[in-house]
Amino acid sequence: MAYKVPFVDPGKHYRNLKGEIDAAITDCLSKGDLILREQLKDYEEHLAEFAGTKYAVGVNSGYHALHLSLIAAGLGLGDEVITVAHTFVATISAIVHVGATPVLIDVSKDYNMDMDELERAITPRTRAVLPVHLNGRLCDMDKLMAIAEKHNLILIEDAAQALGASYNGKIAGSFGLAGCFSHYPFKILGTFGDGGIITTNDPDIARIASLLRYNGEDRETGEYHYHGYTCLLDNVWAAVLDVKLRYLPQWIGRRREIAELYYQGLSDIPELTLPHFEGNKYFDVYQNYVIRTKKRGELAAYLKEHGVETLIHWPKPVWEHRGLKLGRYHLPETESICREVLSLPMNAEINDESVEYVIETIRRFYSS
Ligand SMILES: Cc1ncc(COP(=O)(O)O)c(C=O)c1O
Repeated sequence: MAYKVPFVDPGKHYRNLKGEIDAAITDCLSKGDLILREQLKDYEEHLAEFAGTKYAVGVNSGYHALHLSLIAAGLGLGDEVITVAHTFVATISAIVHVGATPVLIDVSKDYNMDMDELERAITPRTRAVLPVHLNGRLCDMDKLMAIAEKHNLILIEDAAQALGASYNGKIAGSFGLAGCFSHYPFKILGTFGDGGIITTNDPDIARIASLLRYNGEDRETGEYHYHGYTCLLDNVWAAVLDVKLRYLPQWIGRRREIAELYYQGLSDIPELTLPHFEGNKYFDVYQNYVIRTKKRGELAAYLKEHGVETLIHWPKPVWEHRGLKLGRYHLPETESICREVLSLPMNAEINDESVEYVIETIRRFYSS
């Protein structure tokens, strides 16, 4: 179905930058620069600079950024890693795949880790905490850092949805031992396929992750140091990301403008909860614009009928997917979020007219 306002518009996104993107790709292809070449190193350097870390290591997905970071941090069998239940499954799968035990906790009203729950979940086996900065907003980093320090926990950030977001002026991915980002096409900074990156200030994490992503091989000596993986960020995608990185501040500005338009247009509807939360330490980048309503199903159907595409992140608590074998949980906020959330169209390509149309359609739904 062709939507009047699609959730994302990858064609328009490409057309807006076509000249520069085509030139970057053609440059790689014509020089034969395909694997681990200058373009990847340049991008890593620029991204590290942007995030305020010493190193950045390009990998082929946000999932692999998490997986390699956990291995590089030395986490494995017998270790408990605390994370949130309200996240994309990859956060949890990465913990499972290193042999550690994921311990899932509830989130607060802003969809991020509830810090009281974190303290309660710590046991003698807890070695790490893996917070998720969901929807482009950081967790409460003052509390999180204090708890991690008090209990001597390794901190690895799932910043897949938070590139450019900050807390007290410090950028996501620069707080912990490692920060993990996704360059999936519909992320704030996406490739045209899969991609991800690890940020870190720790030379060992950077070195181990760089080896693991390329089958454990040191390219200079030919020595294999680990049983690794084939999960390098493709050189061509790195060249494309390097072009797009220059537009990132502008795109973040546009997302914040759209969020403000939604706020102006919808904040007087009592049945809706909008994602504008307290706290002047936060700079949110609105990877997703998630509203909450008891009439989620009806509203989504009405918007679809009127040409507005929405998504639900996520309709069912992760532990209820029996194949994941996560055990039983009862996390009230996560459960009500699953019943109530709806993500509205949010991307740098949407024009004001389309945002107004979404607002008007929602207003019509609630006035009828
Ligand atoms: C919170 C979160 N963590 C991890 C990932 C995994 O990233 P990727 O899809 O690039 O593997 C995603 C991507 O959707 C995500 O949203």
